[in-house]
Amino acid sequence: MISFKQFSNGFEYLEIKNEVSKAKIALQGAHIFEYSKIGEKPLLWLSEASEFKLGTAIRGGVPLCWPWFGVNKTDTNMPQHGFVRTMIWKLVEFTENDECSELTLLLSNSKETLVFWPYKFELRYKIKVADELTLELITKNCDVKAFSITQALHTYFNISNISDVFVSGLENKLYFDSLKQKSFMQDGNISFHKEVDRVYQDVNNPILLIDVDRTYTITNYGSSSFVVWNPWLEKSTKMSGMKSNSYESMLCIESANALDDFKTIEPNRVHGLKTTIKF
Ligand code: BG6
Repeated sequence: MISFKQFSNGFEYLEIKNEVSKAKIALQGAHIFEYSKIGEKPLLWLSEASEFKLGTAIRGGVPLCWPWFGVNKTDTNMPQHGFVRTMIWKLVEFTENDECSELTLLLSNSKETLVFWPYKFELRYKIKVADELTLELITKNCDVKAFSITQALHTYFNISNISDVFVSGLENKLYFDSLKQKSFMQDGNISFHKEVDRVYQDVNNPILLIDVDRTYTITNYGSSSFVVWNPWLEKSTKMSGMKSNSYESMLCIESANALDDFKTIEPNRVHGLKTTIKF
């Protein structure tokens, strides 16, 4: 079942329900901000301080970073993580059976997008809500010249406590530490004791987020980079849409095309960035 809903300020979202799972997806940013299996705790973290307001990205869920991840290298005045997380997307497809709902949201170039990025494109975002969550962002180049993108499905995981979780599957991988602006090799599992902001590279295997009561398996396609981010106390206190203790219950593990894993897409060609999350 799919229903069109809105908050009292008019902010629109889709509510999806089937026999095994449910989700909420904002039309602004094609932003999934709730997903859970029926009767279970939410997979996605959503900040209690997040605003549902046009022009402001939701803090939590899965923001889409596109066509650049992080700071725009050629113009630092451009919005961090690109511009599509605050654009209004259109629902173009919906199919369902008892245990699975699939939808596609579309965003194409417009006068508004050309202000940020001088290319014609079509973005299709496929969301499959079932006993696992599958997200796929497909970029089509509709221009006459090739373009290059970096991007991420910026998933905020809802965790018991940051001190109790660890990430496995990134052992012996090279990562770029955005805080130290240097690369290092990962030694063993990752556990969290301070701010972490890293891009892991050349990852072609699933990774595990191990919590006290659940293990999430994250498998990516069309990507070989994972971003691992937790802002810790000082940054949480300063960030928009966060409370000072927000960092305790969230961890971002982002399926990305970042750094050397950027994608160049020729005219009329597509690239898909996909992740499945099982638990
Ligand atoms: C992460 C980045 O992906 O997103 C961090 O690695 C950044 O550096 C974080 O702080 C949140 O970004 P934003 O734009 O949503 O506040």
